Amino acid sequence: MLKLNVVILAAGAGKRMHSSLPKVLHTLAGRPLLTHVINTARKLSPNKICVVIGHGGETIRQTIIGDDLTWVIQERQLGTGHALMQALSQLSDDGLTLILYGDVPLVSIHTLRQLLVVADGRNCAVLSTVLVNPFGYGRIVRDIETGAVTAIVEQKDASAEQQDIHEINTGIMLIPNVYLHKWLPTIKNENAHQEYYLTDIIEMSVKNGIHVASSQAESFWEVMGVNNKLQLAELERYFQKYCANKLLDEGVSLIDPLRIDIRGELICGADVEIDINCIFEGTVKLGNHVQVGAHCILRNATVATGSVIRPYSMMEDVEIGENCKIGPYARIRPGTRLASEVQIGNFVEVKNSQIGVGSKTNHLSYIGDSCVGKNVNIGAGTITCNYDGTNKHVTIIEDDVFIGSDTQLVAPVKISKGSTIGAGSTITKETPADQLTLSRSKQVSIVGWGRPPKIKK
Ligand code: UD1
Ligand code: CA
Repeated sequence: MLKLNVVILAAGAGKRMHSSLPKVLHTLAGRPLLTHVINTARKLSPNKICVVIGHGGETIRQTIIGDDLTWVIQERQLGTGHALMQALSQLSDDGLTLILYGDVPLVSIHTLRQLLVVADGRNCAVLSTVLVNPFGYGRIVRDIETGAVTAIVEQKDASAEQQDIHEINTGIMLIPNVYLHKWLPTIKNENAHQEYYLTDIIEMSVKNGIHVASSQAESFWEVMGVNNKLQLAELERYFQKYCANKLLDEGVSLIDPLRIDIRGELICGADVEIDINCIFEGTVKLGNHVQVGAHCILRNATVATGSVIRPYSMMEDVEIGENCKIGPYARIRPGTRLASEVQIGNFVEVKNSQIGVGSKTNHLSYIGDSCVGKNVNIGAGTITCNYDGTNKHVTIIEDDVFIGSDTQLVAPVKISKGSTIGAGSTITKETPADQLTLSRSKQVSIVGWGRPPKIKK
């Protein structure tokens, strides 16, 4: 088996982001740029992943977790060659090293595998792409006759003729470790930037008779780097469009593929319909025939077959059973599990609660830390008073309970099976099964009462 090492360069300052956050921690599709790169690298099952950090290094280490990562510090940023040099002692004697950039987040596993194929275990290989406007990039110089790569020339060092080359270096390359150990320490900084260019390796390779292979990325945005907020926003759009197209391909109906945001993984069954401006975060699973209305936010949620999420609803860390009706304007918070046929209506908040088959709470309620049975009807404005100012307490509502509107259930409390609670009650004690319980002061009318007269100023 070929030994593969990965080195991710992430020591740059990212000045053009105008941010105190290190560049590689800015997020794309809800995840730090560096996390995208690391996750892709992991798919290649390398022997080692080194991340070269400098600017904001401590913050990066605290944010990005992984026992499989080897952190390498580059104190001063003296160029890409210098950056890789810092990781040299971590690289095995043989095998290949793949160089990735922490600010080029979307390179695909397919493209990297292709690069591995052309490197063939022994060649150097560069990943290039052709740009309409190549300004600022290193240009790929090829032999006119054979077409073989002979050098990479940086913008500032390029001749007028070389500046006309549109094929550019993405920065991603594969180099056999034997050559890195041999050549990297000999790189000089005699160039326009006075930096140690990693790209000088290519010329050295050619001089030593080692073939430099090349391959191109499938789509240009895969190899686009992030230097400022504009590029970050553009890349986000490319990626979202890609995710939306993939969903459409799989048969999901998106009312407008340009108005959906996926920040994680969205797994859909058959005949799922998603209206505009929905955000999906973490892992979201939608069963067959699920409908999600406009402007919903779902994070780490599972929604079973046939359920309908109406507009402006949000949910996080929840499991929704089959054929439920949620919203509009519902908020379902972590730890909630709904059985099938449950209805949660407008302006209802549910937190850390289980709700049984066929139960309904349709208007303006708060259900927290509760266990609700089957066929329960919770009237408008019902509140579970789960917090006494110090501790949280549980409310138990058994099967077939009917709770009248505007009721407060002061936890810990149990509403026994078949209970009916009269509207406007404050319930503090367990209720007997199958009886009407109410707590209300008697209605009185005062004869001869009149409103106070208006005082003239
Ligand atoms: C580099 C390439 C250029 C290529 C371009 C693609 C070199 C000499 N040039 O140029 O051919 O077209 O990328 O975007 O390699 N970094 C460090 N330490 C350093 C310097 C850089 O970790 O001392 C990291 C940066 O954080 C960044 C990456 O390396 O992730 C690229 O560095 P950058 O300065 O942007 O290189 P370019 O000049 O754009
Ligand atoms: Ca750059």
